[in-house]
Amino acid sequence: MQKIIAANWKMYKTRPEAAQTVAELTQALAGGTPHDRLVLIFPPFTSVDVVVAAFRDKKNLAVGGQNFYPVEQGAFTGEISTAMLKDAGATWVLVGHSERRHVFSESDELVARKTAFALEQGFKVMLCVGETLQEREAGQLRDVLSRQLSSALGPLPEAQRGTLAGRLAIAYEPVWAIGTGKVAGPAEVREAHAALRALLAEMLGETAADLPILYGGSVKPTNASALVGLDNVDGLLVGGASLEAQSFLQIIGS
Ligand code: PGA
Repeated sequence: MQKIIAANWKMYKTRPEAAQTVAELTQALAGGTPHDRLVLIFPPFTSVDVVVAAFRDKKNLAVGGQNFYPVEQGAFTGEISTAMLKDAGATWVLVGHSERRHVFSESDELVARKTAFALEQGFKVMLCVGETLQEREAGQLRDVLSRQLSSALGPLPEAQRGTLAGRLAIAYEPVWAIGTGKVAGPAEVREAHAALRALLAEMLGETAADLPILYGGSVKPTNASALVGLDNVDGLLVGGASLEAQSFLQIIGS
């Protein structure tokens, strides 16, 4: 499976800053992305077109939107539609990120509507799941992952479920590891990714083997290659360490 190395730029970078970072990336990747990896960037909305323009006609580079509201258009002040993201050149969307769930109170139900809507609109979806520290300490890891996956994927129409390979990636991001510098240990990552693979197989059958499961949460150049080498880790979702081109390039090459 092609590994996906994804950058979540969150609410960082003006357009000139985005252009500068992406210019450094494309220059360094001019010979192609290593090991045929897919490099995916989720810039803030205002920089989606900037990154798209820099990635045009290059292989294994893609751009996604960090958020959207799951209806075609309407009176939803402050929101952005999938049609607008498509127009700007994005082909992926991030759904269920812990900052959306916890800072903006996005419910499992909204995550489910967003997942279904984005897939229907032809987007590739990166669905983020992960437990809080409290849930982990209470031994609820598997239950939380199961609830998050089944609430997001369960309502999908049968026809869509059969065609998720190539259109859905899962990102396991333990909430306690995001932006905290605390990275999950190899045993913890293995356990969670194996649980996710098994849950996906229960839900989707054979398709489960073809769905990339990324790890996210304090990924750095120093821990990236150990993480990406673990069983069932098909890529990385990187926040802080993706903001500097040099640091993200090291992670891409790990
Ligand atoms: P971090 O963020 O790498 O800064 O921990 C990861 C994420 O939120 O996707």
